[in-house]
Parts: sequence; C-alpha cells; structure tokens
Amino acid sequence: MSHSKSIFPEHFLWGAAIAANQAEGAWNVDGKGPSVADAIAHKAHLDPKDYTGHMALSEEHIADALHGRNDQRYPKRRGIDFYHRYKEDLALFAEMGIKVLRVSIAWTRIFPTGEEREPNEAGLRFYEDLFREMRRHQIEPLVTLSHYEMPLALSEKYNGWVHRNVLDAFVRYSNVCFDRYKDLVRYWLTFNEIDSIHRHPFTTAGIRAEKSAPGQAEQDIYQGLHHQFVASALVTRDCHAKIPGSQMGCMLTKLTTYPRTCHPEDVEATLKKNLENYFYTDVQVFGSYPPLITRDLARRGIKIEMQPDDLAILKAHTVDFLSFSYYMSLTESTQPDAERTAGNTILGVKNPYLPASEWGWQIDPVGLKISLLELYDRYRVPLFIVENGLGAKDVVEEGQVHDDYRINYFRAHFEQMAEAVDEGVELMGYTSWGTIDIISAGTSQMSKRYGFIYVDQDDEGNGTLARLRKDSFYWYQKVIASNGQDLD
Ligand code: BG6
Repeated sequence: MSHSKSIFPEHFLWGAAIAANQAEGAWNVDGKGPSVADAIAHKAHLDPKDYTGHMALSEEHIADALHGRNDQRYPKRRGIDFYHRYKEDLALFAEMGIKVLRVSIAWTRIFPTGEEREPNEAGLRFYEDLFREMRRHQIEPLVTLSHYEMPLALSEKYNGWVHRNVLDAFVRYSNVCFDRYKDLVRYWLTFNEIDSIHRHPFTTAGIRAEKSAPGQAEQDIYQGLHHQFVASALVTRDCHAKIPGSQMGCMLTKLTTYPRTCHPEDVEATLKKNLENYFYTDVQVFGSYPPLITRDLARRGIKIEMQPDDLAILKAHTVDFLSFSYYMSLTESTQPDAERTAGNTILGVKNPYLPASEWGWQIDPVGLKISLLELYDRYRVPLFIVENGLGAKDVVEEGQVHDDYRINYFRAHFEQMAEAVDEGVELMGYTSWGTIDIISAGTSQMSKRYGFIYVDQDDEGNGTLARLRKDSFYWYQKVIASNGQDLD
C-alpha cells in the first residue's frame, strides 16, 4: 500500500497509553493504599520464557506490601514517578501531538482498602488535576477504571473478585469517579484485558488459587469473572446516566491464533482458542453468555452463582465500543512436541513465518488487520486499538536513541490498520503502548521499553529519571500531524 493516501477519519484519535501502577510510583503517598501491583516483586534474573513466573507471589510479598516494607524489591511502587512529573510528561506528549491519552485510575488512591466510607480527597484531586492538565493540552483522556491495580486489602479479605462485595465496592468507586470527573472524561474502559483473569488471576482480580477450597480454583475464577461482567454492565449504566454523551468500552487481549497446519484437528483446536478469546467480548457486546461456553462450563462442572437480575443486567447495559490490545499473534497445534514461544502472558506454538521480539513475542502486522476485520465483522460496534507496541532494549548513544526497530514495528502495523479502515472497519482511534518507558506489567523490568520517550532508570531503580526523546518520538509526531499519511 502506498504511504501517501490517508484514509483515517478527520477526527481519528491518535494517542498513547500508560497505566497508573506502572507509571505513577508514589505508591504510598497522599493516602494511597497498597494495590495488588505493589506486591509483585522483581526477579533479578528473568528467563524470557518464564512468561508468568514473574507474577508469582508469596505470603512474604503480601506482608511486605501491606506493611510498606522492602520498597526496592517492587519496581511498580516506584514506576517512573509520573505522579510528581506528570506536568513535564504531558508537555512532552503534547509536543508529540497526541490527541488522546489512555491512563488508569489507581483505585487505591480513591479507596485505599476499597471499603472506606468516604473517598480519599487527595487521590481524587490528583486525577482531577491530571485530567485538567490534559485538557489544557487538548489531550482527550481515555480512562481505565481497573488496570491490574485493585486494593490488596480486597484480595486478602475476599479472595478478590470471587466475593460479590468486591463488585459493590467497584461500582461505588466507579460512581465516585463519574461524579467527580463528569466534566473532564468522556471515554471510559472498565477492566483492562478482562480475559487475563485466567492467565494471572491475582493481578487481574486479586484471586489466589491457594485461597480457594481444594479443586475450586477454576470455579472461583469464573465466579470472579462473572462479577466483573455484571460490574461492567452496572457501571456502563451509571456512566451513561451521569455523563451525557459518554462512551464506555470493554477491553480484550486480542490473541489472534492461527492453525499450525491445515490438519482439521489443528483447525478445530485453533477455532476453540479463538472462540474462547471471543467469550469475554461476546458477553460485554452482545449481553449474554455464548451457548457453547455455557455448555462447556456445565460439562466441566463449573456452576456460576448468579443473582436473579444478573442476566437481565448484562443484556440491558452493553458497551458502546470494543477496545483491545494487540501485540502479537499465536499459533495452535495438536502436536505435543510443537515448538513454543512466549507471548503476552501466554505461551503459544511458534509460527515459522514470523520474527519475534527479544521476549519471544511474534511480530505480526497482518495479524492486526485480521483482528480488526474479524472483530468488526462479528460485533459491528466501533473498535479502538488501545495497546500495541514493541518492548525492546534501547541504547542511549550520545544522548540519542535510534530505535528504528520500533519505528518499523509501528509503520508495518499502521499500514495494516489503514488497510482495515479502507476495507470498512470503523476504528475510533489508536493508543500505542506506551507513550513513555514505564515498568513492564509482565516482568516488572524497566529494560523492556515501549515508549517514544526514554526514561533514565534501570531495573534496580538506579538513574536520574530524566526524559529523552527517541527517534520514534519525531516519527510519531509526523504520523499524527499527517493523520497517518506520512509513515516514512
Ligand atoms: C498488556 C497490559 O497486557 O501488555 C499492559 O495491559 C502491559 O499493562 C502490556 O504493560 C505490555 O506487557 P509487558 O509485560 O511487556 O509490560
């Protein structure tokens, strides 16, 4: 496709994304309580193939977090100090020209344990100031209510989302946010990568298998997920009621999977993987559990407890748009010895046609187009790509970062995105992951960098935290200024 033809709509929302727990730091400042993210320790020598081991946590880590000990072992507690430097950072983002910034609200800044009678005013004020500053720069906020940072206290007390009280606490917290930010925020998301509850239940939903009754861990995860579905529907209702013209989206990890061969068994296994990935958005967009999933759960003896109105609530309050993260594609095979590679908190079969990042994530721009076409054809609601990017080790040479690998990654994905729009996909916007280097969600490393702006900090937390524009900063600036026309 030629780079000279822009087909993006005039008001296409070009932007970038970060999450509170990976960027803000200041984990116990101004009344903030500990979140699940604050209990995830850094592993000094991480095997890139150990794609979930980094999220392992012990009682010791939880006690450390609850008592505010051993800060240096927990990189997300320090982030990149966005909490204190957001003005300087927003000025840089504005210089890059972004029109939308995806951020999340740390629930524990508003309700430190999740169950206080009154919200924490200092936390509310921080986000109000942040959103006002964004607006001053004409940057539209896109706000995730829950991005891997629920109160640790709710995890400890209830085994997280397994208990219905957490649903009530979340709805209350969300309503406090709607009331306070109704004049500042129009675009909202409920749960980041809601499907990830199966891959890392603690960070997503505060659920720890060791707290479940024997043999009940899987059952508890589905129960927690059901509570998140209902919570999502209830806050969609409340958001619409409180903020006229607001839009609420769901958020999926789009794990597009190809069959390793055309053997019908591989194709069937792949179909099942993809249907499993659609389960979450089926509930949030169509408003009901898909019949094949319901049947599968029954066959596995999983019984979700529901209150009489739950199904009606799901049906009545579906989302306005579907947002998703896309980093890589996967391959599926029925051969047990098929070679595997790491992906976004998942392990998949290696695709011989694709290169991979240093962390083994398979780079597949065409897969983004396939994902857009599939999602739009299935759901027919506007789509929003809210995460996409390349984690890489950057090198500073004489005050510069020549990250052409990142530019190449984005260019190839933007070309495919443009083709999908040209073929009729309704795409509201795009927020890359991330704007600026932050702590990795999966590995808690600083050296796994995604930003257009370099941050001087290493994995151990050493560094000046100075910000530095990478080559990709200037490239993305041009892309945005030309509305996706100039990709050179
Ligand atoms: C997504 C998460 O899964 O992937 C982000 O929503 C995360 O929080 C991003 O940072 C990249 O993953 P990682 O593990 O490389 O930081």
